[in-house]
Amino acid sequence: MERGMNNGQSLWHSQSPKTPTTMLDRALSSRRPHSDADLSASGESGTDESKTKRPHIYLLASNFLSRIGHQWWPCLILALLFLVLLFLISVAFHSHSFVCISRFDPAARIGFFGLDGLESDFGALGVPWCRSKHGKEVEWTSKDLLKGLEEFVPIYETRPIKNNMYGMGFDHSFGLWFMARWLKPDLMIESGAFKGHSTWVLRQAMPDTPMISLTPRHPEKYLRKGPAYVDGNCTYFAGKDFVDFGSVDWKNVLRKHGITDLSRVIVFFDDHQNELKRLKQALKAGFRHLIFEDNYDTGTGDHYSLRQICDQSYIRGGGHSCFKDSDEARMRSKRKKFWEKAVDTEELCGPGETWWGVKGEMRDDFNHTNTPISYNQHFQNSRYVESILDVYWELPPVAGPSLTHQSRYDPARATPPIVADGKHRLFQRIGLGRLDKSVFNGYTQMVYLEISKPGS
Ligand SMILES: C[S@@+](CC[C@H](N)C(=O)[O-])C[C@H]1O[C@@H](n2cnc3c(N)ncnc32)[C@H](O)[C@@H]1O
Repeated sequence: MERGMNNGQSLWHSQSPKTPTTMLDRALSSRRPHSDADLSASGESGTDESKTKRPHIYLLASNFLSRIGHQWWPCLILALLFLVLLFLISVAFHSHSFVCISRFDPAARIGFFGLDGLESDFGALGVPWCRSKHGKEVEWTSKDLLKGLEEFVPIYETRPIKNNMYGMGFDHSFGLWFMARWLKPDLMIESGAFKGHSTWVLRQAMPDTPMISLTPRHPEKYLRKGPAYVDGNCTYFAGKDFVDFGSVDWKNVLRKHGITDLSRVIVFFDDHQNELKRLKQALKAGFRHLIFEDNYDTGTGDHYSLRQICDQSYIRGGGHSCFKDSDEARMRSKRKKFWEKAVDTEELCGPGETWWGVKGEMRDDFNHTNTPISYNQHFQNSRYVESILDVYWELPPVAGPSLTHQSRYDPARATPPIVADGKHRLFQRIGLGRLDKSVFNGYTQMVYLEISKPGS
C-alpha cells in the first residue's frame, strides 16, 4: 500500500509516542506571536518613549489625504467597502443567529480556523490505528483505489436501493466492493444485511461467489414496502432461521459450502455489535479476513470499535485529556461547530475523566448494552488486538468535503481522501459529480483486518 494512503501507519509508527495534546501544543505554540519578553530581548518591546514618538493617526491620515489630493475619493470608497466586508464576515462568524456557515466556503473556513482553514486539515487531530505485529500493509495502492472508483461509480448508479438510509452510503459501498474484488474470496459472509444493499454490493464484486447472510429480519420482508435485494446464491440465516454470528456452528456450515481454507473467506460485519466480541468469535472460528463497516471514532457510535480499542496514548491522535483548557479541547470545540460527528471534550469525557470507548463504556448491540471498563482493561484490549493482527487498514473517504459536501465526519480525525479537496476535474471525470450529495454522508472509517496465521 502506498505510504501516504495508509491511515498514518508508515507516517507515524517510527515516531516516539506523544500524546496528541503535547503535539498540538507544540505545533500551535510555534505559530503564536512572540511574547513581550521575546520582544524586549530583541529590542523591539515598544516602550513608553517610543509610544510618545509615534505620530498621531489623525496626522498620518491627513498627510496621506493631502498627498493623494483629489484622487482620495476612490480610495475612501474602497476602504469603506473593505470595512463593511470585514464587519459582515465578523457578524457571520460570531453571531449565534448565523448558524448556516458553509463548511466548504474558504472564507468561512478562514473565519473559523484562521489562515490554516485554507489548508486541507485531514488528520489534524490525529488518526488512531491498530499496530500490526510485523508492520505489514495492504497490497493495493492509492492508484488502485482511484482506478477502482472510476469503475465503481457506474455500477453504484444501478443499485436497486437508491435511498439506503440507516445502511451504507457511497464511501463504504465502494470500500466493500473494492476489497471483495481484490481479495477474490471463495465465500463471502455478511452479518447485518438490512434491506440487502451490502449483499448487492458484494454480489457486484464477485458475481459467482456463494454468500452467507446473517440478519434477524429477512431482506425479502422489505420488498413488500419498497426496494430491497434478495440474492439467489446466498444462504440466509434470517427471520426464524436467524442465528447470531457467535452461535453459528461454522465448522459444519463451512463444510456444507465445501470450504476447507478459511483464508479464502471474507467476513463483513455491519451488525453494530462490539467489535472486540466479533473479533474473538471470528478468531475462534478461524476466519482471517474481516471488514467492519462502522469503525466509530472514540466518543461516538453505538458499539465498541477497532478504532476506539486502538485509541491509545502511544498512537498519534490517540489517548485524550479531559482538561478543558488544552489545545485539543479548544480545537475540538471549534470543529464541533463545523462537523456533525465531531465531539468536544464535554462529549468525549464521562465522570472521572473517562474518555475511552464512549465516555469509558464499551458499547454493544446498538447501544442496548454498555459496560463501563477501566482504562487498564481498555489498554489490555488494544494489546490483545495488536497481538493477533497482520494488517489494519482504514478506507479513506472517497473525496474531500469541498467536493462531496459531506457534513458529518470531521476530516481532522480521518486519513486524506482518495480524491483530494480541490480536484474538481478529477471528481467530475470519475463520475462522482453525478451522484446525489447525500450518498457521501455516511463515512465512519470502514476497516479491513487481516488476522495473523495461527502461531505466526
Ligand atoms: C446498519 S444495518 C445493515 C445495513 C446493510 N449492511 C446495508 O448496507 O444496507 C444493521 C443490520 O443489522 C441487523 N442486526 C441486528 N442484530 C444483529 C445480529 N446480532 N447479527 C446480525 N445482524 C444483526 C439489523 O437488523 C440490521 O438489519
